[in-house]
Amino acid sequence: MPSSAQHKNRLAKERSLKERTYHHYAESGTWKRHLSIRNVMRKTAKFSGLNWFARRNLRNYEITELAWGEATDHSLKVLHLSDLHFPENDTARVDRQSLVAACKNLSADICVITGDLRDKSFGSFDVCVAEIAELIASLSLPTFIVLGNHDSIEMKEPLVAAGATVLVNENIIYDADGIAVLIGGVDDPHYYEADDPIAALRTDTHVAFKLLLAHSPEVMLKDAAQDADLVLCGHTHGGQVCLPGGNPILANIRAPRFLVRGQWKFVATDGFTSRGCGTTLLPLRLNCRPEIAVHKIFLA
Ligand SMILES: [Fe+2]
Repeated sequence: MPSSAQHKNRLAKERSLKERTYHHYAESGTWKRHLSIRNVMRKTAKFSGLNWFARRNLRNYEITELAWGEATDHSLKVLHLSDLHFPENDTARVDRQSLVAACKNLSADICVITGDLRDKSFGSFDVCVAEIAELIASLSLPTFIVLGNHDSIEMKEPLVAAGATVLVNENIIYDADGIAVLIGGVDDPHYYEADDPIAALRTDTHVAFKLLLAHSPEVMLKDAAQDADLVLCGHTHGGQVCLPGGNPILANIRAPRFLVRGQWKFVATDGFTSRGCGTTLLPLRLNCRPEIAVHKIFLA
């Protein structure tokens, strides 16, 4: 369980972010707002004629199926969603029904969501939590969630009430048909730098496999994360707006570029960074389709 000190520290950082964001907006002049990344991207898409195409990609989910480890008779199938960014008032971004429809024919034992459930970084999360509750009910899978830099620590309780297991620097031992699998999750490694992989992976139980969930692959910068057998992350959106060939214009991580998207190996630890299901800043995706991943983990 996260300590109350961790909880208070996270809340203090959230309040500080909110104050600085309001202050920055109030202080910045009109010309600065016009030159913000959001406005430059919006106008570039609009005037280049790419807007329609980039919006059409929002629900064009790509299904990525991966197998991890040597083939055995036992496996755990993990449906991996990330960066849903449910907005409080704009259904154009990600709509739950199209997401559920895209998952309908995918078989899995559990679902994991690697953060950024909410679009805004502060304010209400009622709609977001309601959407997650509906999503969990529709998928009918045990669901494990870690918080991202857009999420508040105060979302934990209502998400648990909605049926999720929310892992904030903690873990559970999952019984996969008689085989013990540790599922650990860290708090946001990106903005809040609140990830504690030591706590998330600590156990006295003998387990066959350690799965670590983190919002951002920046968790790998802490050596303890390498104690995991597999790390699943999101955060980068794969760049969201990319050059032809899928090269991201912005990666938004303080970590090696190879961690930005897809399958990777960090020293001896396997990992995967999802391109995510939603969008942030703008409801646009270019050369970077939203992604739903299914990981088949073979267990010895
Ligand atoms: Fe995100």
